[in-house]
Formats: sequence, C-alpha cells, structure tokens
Amino acid sequence: MAISIKTFDDIAKMRIAGQLAARVLEMIEPYIQPGVSTGELDRLCHQHITEKQHAISASLGYHGFPKSVCISVNEVVCHGIPNDDKKLKDGDILNIDVTVIKDGFHGDTSKMFIVGKSTILSERLCRVTRESLYLAICMIRPGVRLCTLGKSIQQFVEAENFSVVREYCGHGIGEAFHEEPQVLHYDANDGGVVLQPGMALTIEPMVNAGDYRIRTMKDGWTVKTKDHSLSAQYEHTIVVTEDGCEIMTIRTDDTLPAVIHYPT
Ligand code: CO
Repeated sequence: MAISIKTFDDIAKMRIAGQLAARVLEMIEPYIQPGVSTGELDRLCHQHITEKQHAISASLGYHGFPKSVCISVNEVVCHGIPNDDKKLKDGDILNIDVTVIKDGFHGDTSKMFIVGKSTILSERLCRVTRESLYLAICMIRPGVRLCTLGKSIQQFVEAENFSVVREYCGHGIGEAFHEEPQVLHYDANDGGVVLQPGMALTIEPMVNAGDYRIRTMKDGWTVKTKDHSLSAQYEHTIVVTEDGCEIMTIRTDDTLPAVIHYPT
C-alpha cells in the first residue's frame, strides 16, 4: 500500500487530534501519585477524551484492547492494560500511550512519568529515551531516508548501554491508526522509504535498561522485558514539512519547538 500524502486540510485536522492527545497527557500528570491505580488513571483519561474533548479513544476496542489508554509500568514495555488492582508506588516509572480520533483523524503520543522519587537509572533511562526521539525528529526533512532515523536512534541508545526493542515500530498515521510505512527504531532494511512533505508518522522508540528481548504475557497484550529490566518509551506524531517537520502532539514539557526548520 502506498504512503498517503496529507493535504493542508488533513494536516489541520491531525494538528487538532494531536493536540487533544497531548492535552490528555498533561491533564493526567497531577493524578500520578503513589497509591493510585492504573485503572483509575484510565477512567480519568477516558472521561476527559469523551466528555471534555468529545473525541474517541482509538485504543478502546482496537483488536479487542479493553481500555482507553495503555499504561505500562516498570518492566512492561508496552500495551499494559490498566487495572484497578495495579496501584502505583514510589519510584515506579510508567508510560501512558494515548491515541485519540477527532474529525476522522488520529493523534498518537506517549510519555514517561516517574512516581515520587526517581532513581539515577530510571531518570537516565527516561531521559535517553526522550533524547533518542528528539534526535530522530530533528533529522526529519524531505529527501531523508527513513532508515537513517532508526540507525541514529539505535546508535545513540546503545552508546548509553541501553537497548532498542525490535518488535514494535512507529507507523504512518492519519485517517487510519496504523498506516504505511513502518518506522523502525533500529538499523534495518525498511524498503528504501524516502521522506516527502505531507507524510505523517509516529516515532516511538522503546528502550530497555537491559537486553532488548521481550516476552508477551498470557493476557495477549502486556509486553515485558525478558530480563525484567526497566523499559521506557516516548512517542510523537509528526508531519514532514517542506523544510523539516511539525510535531502534531507537542506538549508544554517538550523542549523542542512545534515547528522545526532543518537545520536548527
Ligand atoms: Co503509535
């Protein structure tokens, strides 16, 4: 299937969907405290998306996923299912992954939160993961081969003695949740995709403190590191512009501008 090129109007809609997803991550931050359950955090996100934003959670019911957001704590790599019995404790790290649909378009984003006091390792893992996303975003412009992004992410992460998960990748996004192309976060053959203005993609590296290998739990969703090491992930939805890119899901805590002109 060909990679879709978004029109000016499509991009305006993606900006709105992206900003709604970003607002959910900002809204939930003060609720992330020791003792709160991931089930409660999911309910707060769901209410915000449906009642305040009049939007749709793309995750709810997606291939049968039972909740509105994915919440992945500590050694959970991705697709953690929110649960009333799973209460956060001091020092936990968690990723909340939000995808909303508004006016037919998707915005997909995730970030890490640290509960209470961080450790040196957890703080470094989250920082390196965010920086690996940022360095890839800063490389985006028309004419760049998509595979150079993944190669750079992997080199950066491995120089910090962390590893990149292989099984999950970023993706094209728009009227569908997952479109062509696949955005790999490591050095591999991606079929030679070259970035063009109007392409919309997610970049969402999953970085493990230990080995890159993973295991899927019996629930069919929860993915954990095989060696039980901590895992982190950050994700933005971006659109390629004439001279760089625009981050659809930019938040106030991001340290990049929303619109990036290459070179910056
Ligand atoms: Co995604």
